[in-house]
Amino acid sequence: MKEKPLHRRKLLFTFLAALAVCLLIIVPIVIVYVTKNSAALPVTYATLQAEIDRPDVSIYYIPHQDDDAIAFSLSIAHDLANNVPIQVHLISDGANHALQQIMATGLYHCEWHNTNHSFPLDDQDISRIRTQEFLASMAALNVPPDKIHLMNLHDYQTPAAWTADLYNQLKNSVKEQILTNHAQYPNALHHCSSGYYDFDGPRNPVHLACWDAATEITNANLMKADQFAFYRTYVFYQPPSHRWSQMTMNFSQFIPQHQLSVEAYQAYDPGNGQYALGMHSVPILMNNTIVDGIIYLDFLNNTFPNNITVS
Ligand SMILES: *[C@@H]1O[C@H](CO)[C@@H](O)[C@H](O)[C@H]1NC(C)=O
Ligand SMILES: *[C@@H]1O[C@H](CO)[C@@H](O)[C@H](O)[C@H]1NC(C)=O
Ligand SMILES: *[C@@H]1O[C@H](CO)[C@@H](O)[C@H](O)[C@H]1NC(C)=O
Ligand SMILES: *[C@@H]1O[C@H](CO)[C@@H](O)[C@H](O)[C@H]1NC(C)=O
Ligand SMILES: *[C@@H]1O[C@H](CO)[C@@H](O)[C@H](O)[C@H]1NC(C)=O
Ligand SMILES: [Zn+2]
Repeated sequence: MKEKPLHRRKLLFTFLAALAVCLLIIVPIVIVYVTKNSAALPVTYATLQAEIDRPDVSIYYIPHQDDDAIAFSLSIAHDLANNVPIQVHLISDGANHALQQIMATGLYHCEWHNTNHSFPLDDQDISRIRTQEFLASMAALNVPPDKIHLMNLHDYQTPAAWTADLYNQLKNSVKEQILTNHAQYPNALHHCSSGYYDFDGPRNPVHLACWDAATEITNANLMKADQFAFYRTYVFYQPPSHRWSQMTMNFSQFIPQHQLSVEAYQAYDPGNGQYALGMHSVPILMNNTIVDGIIYLDFLNNTFPNNITVS
């Protein structure tokens, strides 16, 4: 008669021990899962900094052939050095009639070469050579060619030519590209230009498209705001003391790669088809971008205090 309760106690003990072991295994898994998948953790500059430091996957949307060298190359080099898988999309087809005039008509004085250039270059040549410079910049950064995608969307250049319809087409193409990438890489960080906060005169449509696309995507709850980081380009018109954004990061260990990327836009050897179009188009930005290895970032969810520096 006394064995029975003992036997039951043994059974109960075995059951409780098994339950405890199960809980020990399951509870941490549930905690990790809930933490990763709920918005429970507040998004702060520290969490954004950590995301940019070690993204699962990085996807870049470069507006023009030259913005890579001016704004994105430090981050691209940083990702490659940390074995972060990357994809790079170039948005514009490189059309730039003002640059064609500078290079071909003899009507503009080039301070760099102290002459008026009259190279036989038409608008198609300008697009093609700008994209060659972009590919040379990507090669200098060691971006694998199969990770580079040319969206080849036409740049209408002047505010008058960019009608609302044409802008919507551009924005929707960028939006589709982001959503396609998101379907394939759901944890990727998407790096765009800061079209809303970063401008020099009227906002540039090709710089703004990714911002507006991301705004629509997050408003529709298709992606989270912290899956996007926005890089300033025109900020490099200012000397370092006057540059600012919502958050900065110091990637100065990648200045040598940044330098190589800029040099791809400075290669000048007209006899061999190299015209340094990037340098002729935005000489001040090209000359000023390499200083301190700082990247200037903004974020969609602009509820943080501004002008925070994270080093
Ligand atoms: C070179 O361009 C400048 C404008 O930048 C113009 O004033 C000058 O007349 C041009 N020179 C020649 C030889 O056409
Ligand atoms: C940029 O740098 C080059 C080479 O140092 C120089 O010749 C050129 O005048 C500079 N251009 C501007 C706009 O600062
Ligand atoms: C957006 O900002 C709000 C308010 O600061 C914050 O609670 C939320 O976590 C942020 N969301 C994202 C995705 O950044
Ligand atoms: C960036 O980091 C480097 C190396 O740690 C440091 O020497 C440099 O002063 C930093 N730059 C800025 C602007 O803080
Ligand atoms: C950030 O700092 C810059 C330069 O000091 C200033 O011009 C700008 O107004 C500041 N922005 C905000 C939102 O405080
Ligand atoms: Zn020149």
